[in-house]
This record gives sequence, C-alpha cells and structure tokens, in this order.
Amino acid sequence: MSFAFTVNGEPVEVEATGMRRLLDVLREDLALTGTKEGCGEGECGACSVLLDGAVVDACLVPVSQAQGASVQTVEGLATNGSLDVMQQAFLETGGAQCGICTPGMLMAGQAFLASGQDATDENIRHAIAGNLCRCTGYTKIIEAIALAAERSPHP
Ligand code: FES
Ligand code: FES
Repeated sequence: MSFAFTVNGEPVEVEATGMRRLLDVLREDLALTGTKEGCGEGECGACSVLLDGAVVDACLVPVSQAQGASVQTVEGLATNGSLDVMQQAFLETGGAQCGICTPGMLMAGQAFLASGQDATDENIRHAIAGNLCRCTGYTKIIEAIALAAERSPHP
C-alpha cells in the first residue's frame, strides 16, 4: 500500500504494509537515521518523534497511522546548519552524552516547549518521563530543557 504524509514539512509517499513501523520507514525507507531504536517495545523513548505535534514512540506506530499526518524528526530541528534552541541548549549544558537518547529527548523537549507549560523541574521531568537516559542522570537534560524554555517566547 501507499502512504502519504509529511516529514519535517516535506511531503513523502512510501510503499509499505500498513503495519510496518514508522521507525523503520523513517530510518530505512527515508534514510532519516537520527531517530534511534533502543528497546523496540515502547519503553525507552529513543525513537520519539512528533506526530501531528504529539510525542509518539515510532517503534509502536504503524505507518498507516501516519497517513495524512505531519511527522517531525530530529533532522528537522536545525535550519541551514544552525542548531535550534533546544539543540543549542543541550550542547551548552552537556545534556547530550552518548547520544542514543538525545534525539528522543530533543523531540520530547520540543513538545514541552510547544505546550507552553512553566519550565519547572517537575513539569520537565514529567515531559521526559517516557524517555530513558543511561548516561547523564537527567540533571543536564533537565537543565537544557529549562534553558531552551527560558530562551523561547511563550507560544
Ligand atoms: S525504541 Fe521505541 S520506545 Fe524504545
Ligand atoms: S546520552 Fe546516553 S542514553 Fe542518554
């Protein structure tokens, strides 16, 4: 079957079975390997992308669910080689270490910024509750998201 949707604002059309994972379509069919696979079971958040603005685990989403939707991946964050506000904040605070969780953290961070919630420690922890990091102990990641929120105008 054929499925049409947008990825980072660009229209795409892919041939796949409806149950093919969005994660595989992104990484293998569209060569967007920024989205990572950790557990493959919806537990780690490494594969987080935005589907119509909501954070989803791409390892659990069948491509049929993306039909007509807007998908955003980590590749869509930088513009002309310039990091976006969240990426820059991760860089400055040391929020990215091994990098496996980082794309998912960035996307969860994007959704948090878009939500307009206050950047309290509790709210940020809640926003990334579905994203596991084995490296940093979360402190730097939370600092990064708070810094990005401080630098971003409220939506
Ligand atoms: S790879 Fe999707 S949640 Fe872990
Ligand atoms: S930076 Fe290594 S798992 Fe998060």
